[in-house]
Amino acid sequence: MEPVELRTSRLTLRAPASADVDAITAACQDPDIARWTTVPSPYSRADAEDYVRNAAEWWDDGSQTVWIAHAGAELVASIGLHHIVAHPTGGDAELGYWVAASARGRGYLTEAARAVIDWGFADLGLARIRWRAVVGNVPSARSARALGFRYEGLLRQGLAGPRGRDDGWSAALLRTDDRGPVDWPIDLG
Ligand SMILES: CC(C)(COP(=O)(O)OP(=O)(O)OC[C@H]1O[C@@H](n2cnc3c(N)ncnc32)[C@H](O)[C@@H]1OP(=O)(O)O)[C@@H](O)C(=O)NCCC(=O)NCCS
Repeated sequence: MEPVELRTSRLTLRAPASADVDAITAACQDPDIARWTTVPSPYSRADAEDYVRNAAEWWDDGSQTVWIAHAGAELVASIGLHHIVAHPTGGDAELGYWVAASARGRGYLTEAARAVIDWGFADLGLARIRWRAVVGNVPSARSARALGFRYEGLLRQGLAGPRGRDDGWSAALLRTDDRGPVDWPIDLG
C-alpha cells in the first residue's frame, strides 16, 4: 500500500524518510529506548538507514505501517502498527512506539497513537490492536492505559529481544471499546 500521512493538532506523521536518519540515530542513543524496545543497541547510523529502507518495504507489502512524528521541524516520535494480520471479520496488529527523550511528557505519544489507532480501525480494517511491554515499563503501560487499552495478562518470558527474554505485560484495544481509561490490575503508580 502507499504510505499514509496522518495529522493531529500538533504533529505530522509520515513514513520514515532519508531526511530522518540523523535524528532517528540521535534519538536511539537513549538508554530507555535500548532498555524497553527491540531496536538494536548500540544503535548506529546504518541501523537508521536500514530502518528507513525496511519501512518502505513494509508499507509496500502491508506487513507493518510505521511513521515518524514531527512537531514542526522536531522529530519527536516513532510509532507503528506491526505484525498486521488481515481477516475478513477485522484484522489485528500490534502498536509500538518510542518518543525522543527530549520530547517526553508533552502528551505527544497519546496524541500520535490516537491518530494511528483511529486510522487502524477505520481505514486498515482492524478489529483489535495489541500492546506488549517488558514488565516494569510503567511509562509505556500508563500510555497504553490512557489510550483505553485493557490489560490482558502476564506473558511469562514472553518477550524476546536483544537482551534475551523478559516477562511481558499484554493489553489490547478492540474497535468496539469506548477508549475511556480503565483500571489495570497492576501497580502503575
Ligand atoms: C513510553 C513513552 C513513549 C511515553 O512517552 P511520553 O511522551 O512521555 O508520553 P505522553 O506524554 O503522551 O504520556 C503518556 C502517559 O505516560 C505517562 N508517563 C510518561 N512518562 C512517564 C514516566 N516517566 N513515569 C510514569 N508515567 C509516565 C504520562 O503521565 C501519561 O499517562 P497518564 O495519562 O496516566 O498521566 C516514552 O517514555 C518512551 O519513549 N519510552 C522509551 C521507549 C518505550 O518504552 N517504548 C514503548 C515500548 S513498549
